[in-house]
Amino acid sequence: NQDQQTQLKKSVAEAAARYVAQNLKAGAILGVGTGSTANLFIDALRPIKEKIRGAVASSENTARKLTEIGIPLVALNDIDSLPIYVDGADEIDASFAMIKGGGGALTREKIIADVADCFVCIADASKVVAVLGNFPLPIEVIPMATAQVARAVVALGGTPVLRKGFVTDNGNHILDVSGLSITDPVALESALNQIVGTVTNGLFARRGADVLLLGTLNGVETRTR
Ligand code: A5P
Repeated sequence: NQDQQTQLKKSVAEAAARYVAQNLKAGAILGVGTGSTANLFIDALRPIKEKIRGAVASSENTARKLTEIGIPLVALNDIDSLPIYVDGADEIDASFAMIKGGGGALTREKIIADVADCFVCIADASKVVAVLGNFPLPIEVIPMATAQVARAVVALGGTPVLRKGFVTDNGNHILDVSGLSITDPVALESALNQIVGTVTNGLFARRGADVLLLGTLNGVETRTR
């Protein structure tokens, strides 16, 4: 149930804060994701915020929350490297490929993930799947290309639905694509990248997670690829 899931998210969020306290070198910058688990992670950073010189935020929401607790924001363009990026996922498979973007922040998330040395995924047990695709795959599209991208997605076997009343932080639309059984996430991520008018698709397969902190009823498990 919902309460139990929130409790699991909270325990992984706290485990992630401990991971950061142990692994982030003094003076280093931290990448911070978006979503309800990431929000709990930001709360859990409060006691160790003096150890964090600054953070790169993956959304306006995350930026606001980080500012609230007093962690300075750093622009990705102002740093050459990012040792750790902590973020949630909508689904994660055994190879640590993920579907992300349920919160609509997939583009900035994928950019930060690409820069980061270590992607730490924080998830409750419900997010682990054998095959990705039960959760509708979000695709961020340039507004004028929405119908054309939707047709291309149908040709690939998906059923796209426009996320109504939603505009991304980058001013774009989201298509949520259901009906895809994603047996080859790397190949599908590339195929979707070829569709003109897409900004980013929510498959994080080419660059998946490196560490998974998984909240289970028996405690938080640390898994590495
Ligand atoms: C945000 O755009 C997503 O990629 C999130 O990481 C994902 O939706 C996980 O969200 P929850 O932590 O709220 O489940």
